[in-house]
Amino acid sequence: MVDRRRFLKTAGWAAAAGWIPSRLLAHDMHAMQAAPAGRVGNDLCMHAMGDVTRMPGLVDPAKLAPFVDTLPVPPVLVPAAGKPLRLRMAESTQRLHRDLPPTRLWTYGGAYPGPTIDARKGQATEVIWENALPVKHFLPVDHAICGAEADKPEVRAIVHLHGAQVPRADDGYPEDWYVPGKSRRHRYPNTQDAATLWYHDHAMGINRLNMYAGLTGLYLLRDEHELGLGLPAGDQELPLVLADRLLREDGSLYYPDSGDANAPWVPEVFGNLTLVNGAILPRADVQPRRYRLRVLNASNGRFYHLRFRDGRPFQAIGSDQGLLAAPVSMRSIFLAPGERADLVVDFAASRGGAIELMNDALPLMRFAVGQGAVRDDSRVPDVLRDVPRFTERDVSRSRELTLDEYSDCVATPMLMLLGGKRWHDPVTETVKLGTTEAWNLVNLTEDTHPIHLHLVRFQILDRRPYDVDEYMSSKTLRFTGPAQPPPAHERGWKDVVQAYPGMVTRIVATFDGYKGRYAWHCHLAEHEANEMMRPFEVV
Ligand code: C2O
Ligand code: CU
Ligand code: CU
Repeated sequence: MVDRRRFLKTAGWAAAAGWIPSRLLAHDMHAMQAAPAGRVGNDLCMHAMGDVTRMPGLVDPAKLAPFVDTLPVPPVLVPAAGKPLRLRMAESTQRLHRDLPPTRLWTYGGAYPGPTIDARKGQATEVIWENALPVKHFLPVDHAICGAEADKPEVRAIVHLHGAQVPRADDGYPEDWYVPGKSRRHRYPNTQDAATLWYHDHAMGINRLNMYAGLTGLYLLRDEHELGLGLPAGDQELPLVLADRLLREDGSLYYPDSGDANAPWVPEVFGNLTLVNGAILPRADVQPRRYRLRVLNASNGRFYHLRFRDGRPFQAIGSDQGLLAAPVSMRSIFLAPGERADLVVDFAASRGGAIELMNDALPLMRFAVGQGAVRDDSRVPDVLRDVPRFTERDVSRSRELTLDEYSDCVATPMLMLLGGKRWHDPVTETVKLGTTEAWNLVNLTEDTHPIHLHLVRFQILDRRPYDVDEYMSSKTLRFTGPAQPPPAHERGWKDVVQAYPGMVTRIVATFDGYKGRYAWHCHLAEHEANEMMRPFEVV
């Protein structure tokens, strides 16, 4: 039996938006055919997916001239000691492509993506985040979603610094939101290792909309060790913030809804266009030398299978939580929402050439390489840093946590849970400060869920196939194959892990730093909104 929702999602949506199926979709198609009957449930339940019949006049990506806009690079803010940065969230407009009318967005500091905060380990950063947003949302708020009930102010915001080890009060906990007219001061201690962090909205029940509206920016934490390696720097370092959007011909953002005005939430959102640093199909004019690309997947739901059109190899030097132990040569990389990849690519042999960065068969941007010979003093050392690997012996406690998906047409169209529990259920993951735990993510669904934990960095121990049906009927975990260690580029420190369907994904973290209540969740923003988020508490 083919699950109706998934069928419509993959076949209907994809056709309507004119996509070439990504690996995710191909993978979903495969999972769909392999799926045992009735796992997700009611195939009459149709209102959980976006209403393709009401799809308004969307931009035809084929009609936009490619590579005519220069890749925007967000302004860099270097925090000065004792002087907090001030960043305003406000409505702004921005042209996302030369041939499109300006788009209404909600941004930090006046543009999307927000300014890149360039922080240094050992020096705390303070930011006053000012909420100057309108009081009405321009995207469809769903009051049936936990935390966004009709008695709550419609527009609320709270900034989370993703990947940062910070005290609870500074983390951007989903319930710490505040309304337009208010501000909040956050202090980021910057005591962790260098990493590609990012900030985004996390307001309970609406952050998928706030993020989609544009509330995203990068935060590069650097340290002496990394700065001493001689990696490409200055103009040889480029941030690439990838995020897909549905855009109408008038330039406006379209966020799909279920067609039910009382419950507009949709389980996933995929755009017809991908923005790179806020531009559609931009061009970066580069020199024939090495570049360090700080790639962030800031999409609500889309995974990217990144590669260069000519198939050239690149080096992965870092993941979510900073440098790998050693560079890994790759030709493509699969990046889930919330994940970061730190890549080095060499254009030295491509003088005068043009190389496209692709998502499978679709170009995202072009690198136009200059003619002139240039000196390149950068290097990529064979050893980047020490990453001691966790083993089972380091683990003092293991938890089995399921990733679940429900369809219940009477009460809720569709629901995703962690450990079978809702956000407001009592905390079950109570962890002693300083202890090391393994969280075994038992994925009962047909989707890959990018699971993110606040506060900590973790390592992926392994992924192991198991019998889902047996687990669902008798709660026994029977493995059907050997444990697979993570590939080399996933062997560093992470804060988002792709939990594959049909697998138990084991991650290990030491819960140190701070006590208090933090969140863990799926980073598919629509899943997170509909209860695929839970608190955990460090005591
Ligand atoms: Cu990137 Cu809880 O977030
Ligand atoms: Cu986070
Ligand atoms: Cu999910």
